[in-house]
Amino acid sequence: MFKSISVGGNGHDALIIGHFQGEKPDDATLQKLAKIGAADAVLSALSRPDATGESGAIVEAFPDRQPAAPATGAKAKKPVDPATIPSRVIIVGLGKPANFDVDSLRHIAGVVGRRLANARVQSAIVDFSGPIKARELDARHAGTSFGEGLGLLGWVCDQFRGGKKQDEEAKRRVPLAVRTENARFQQGIERGLALAISTNLCRTLSQTPPNIATTQFITDEAKKLAKDCGLAFKEWTGEALEKERFTGLINVGKASENKPRLLRLEYRPDGGKKDAKPVVLVGKTMTYDTGGLSLKINNGMVGMKRDKDGGCAVIGAMHAIATVIKPKVPVVAYLAVAENSISDEAYRPDDVITYRNGVTVEVTNTDAEGRLVLADALVYACEKETPSCIVDLATLTGGVVVALGSTFCGMFCEDDTLRSRIEKAASAAGERVWRLPMHSEYRDMMKSPIADIQNSNAARKAHPIQGAAFLSYFVEDTIPWCHLDIAGVHVAEKNAGPYIEGPTGWGVRLLANFAESYPARG
Ligand code: BES
Ligand code: MN
Ligand code: ZN
Repeated sequence: MFKSISVGGNGHDALIIGHFQGEKPDDATLQKLAKIGAADAVLSALSRPDATGESGAIVEAFPDRQPAAPATGAKAKKPVDPATIPSRVIIVGLGKPANFDVDSLRHIAGVVGRRLANARVQSAIVDFSGPIKARELDARHAGTSFGEGLGLLGWVCDQFRGGKKQDEEAKRRVPLAVRTENARFQQGIERGLALAISTNLCRTLSQTPPNIATTQFITDEAKKLAKDCGLAFKEWTGEALEKERFTGLINVGKASENKPRLLRLEYRPDGGKKDAKPVVLVGKTMTYDTGGLSLKINNGMVGMKRDKDGGCAVIGAMHAIATVIKPKVPVVAYLAVAENSISDEAYRPDDVITYRNGVTVEVTNTDAEGRLVLADALVYACEKETPSCIVDLATLTGGVVVALGSTFCGMFCEDDTLRSRIEKAASAAGERVWRLPMHSEYRDMMKSPIADIQNSNAARKAHPIQGAAFLSYFVEDTIPWCHLDIAGVHVAEKNAGPYIEGPTGWGVRLLANFAESYPARG
């Protein structure tokens, strides 16, 4: 969309202002417009029928940049310096005042950004100070949301297009510089743009096809991130997986020539206490999910390159944590990386496997593989990290898409403090979570007639909860834990607001906000 987006610049290609539905811009904004000789053009644009003021509705005004010579005499106005007159004013609807909030600015930035890109605007001034004041929004939060929206819209992932198309599209892109008079709003934009870079890293990984994004590729990417951002890195593969009895990864990954691995990344705050307990993040990173021998049918496999998006979100979050957030609490990330494929070596329905914590699992469905690999990471983290809390992200079940669509992520968290922290972080990120229940009856559903538990109950009931119930057998009761089933929210089906059809990078900003607000001593 843009060649680059930065904060600053001194041009006047576009001025962006807002107005509420059924209202003119506020008086202070109108006065400012009058000073730069743009008020008349704006008011006449607002009289057009498309100036509905609905959230994201845009009209444009093109002020005269060579104003008539000022009249002489007592009433003569001070002439306006033409250099300060914007070439265009983008007037964007903010909806009804009651609906204008920090969240809506993310969407508005997406709409405005599309217009800026189409018009090849290189320098834009944003002024929402009136509406922000009127609604008593926090200017920094508002700026963050606006910056996120612009940055998310700016995601470019064209490396899978042919060279010719790449060149054509690259030629259309211009660099954009954005500025505003409000220092806190501008700080927010900077933060939002930075968080969008981390989110876009996640989206690019998600977009990378499975013949390229192999388990080795993901490992290399994680290693590169660790090196560039000063994180510790460790990898278990081959014999090391056997030695640590990472049974889930070994079995799920058996059929693929792309061998499974467990990855660990660690962020340590400068001057942090040695004994501070870390926040642990865990990501399901299935580079492809064919379903295994319980093979996916009727095109159910298409899109399963994105079965790695839990892990991709954790990678994006570690990027944000290391480059933007730098929280006071240590953060450890585990990625359970495997490809669920088929061959004569594949694990099978009916296999029984034994985990490191002694729990035995009867495999009833090789397509319920995510929980099997997550279990390794959860058990190991509980045993080795003394976690202050654990948050896992996984495209775990189609059932959560049936239940919540793409509007809310399914959240399982029985710890009130952790849940409220996650909810706050989610709301600041504009990433919605909805709590789903846990109960001993669901845990009982996972009991197996021949082993301790089974990975899927044959009754087609409560699938997302079954997934969470299964995982609960691998987390120590005393450790606050949150499971986020992102199968509905990790991908957008259409262009809307700051998103285009494709990966959303869901979870990166939630986790970044979460780590930021977490108390240093856990
Ligand atoms: N990766 C899938 C879940 C999924 C489905 C993600 C659709 C994104 C979109 C997962 O491994 C899976 O296959 N789950 C099964 C579980 C079942 C076999 C118990 C499902 O949801 O059907
Ligand atoms: Mn599956
Ligand atoms: Zn899967």
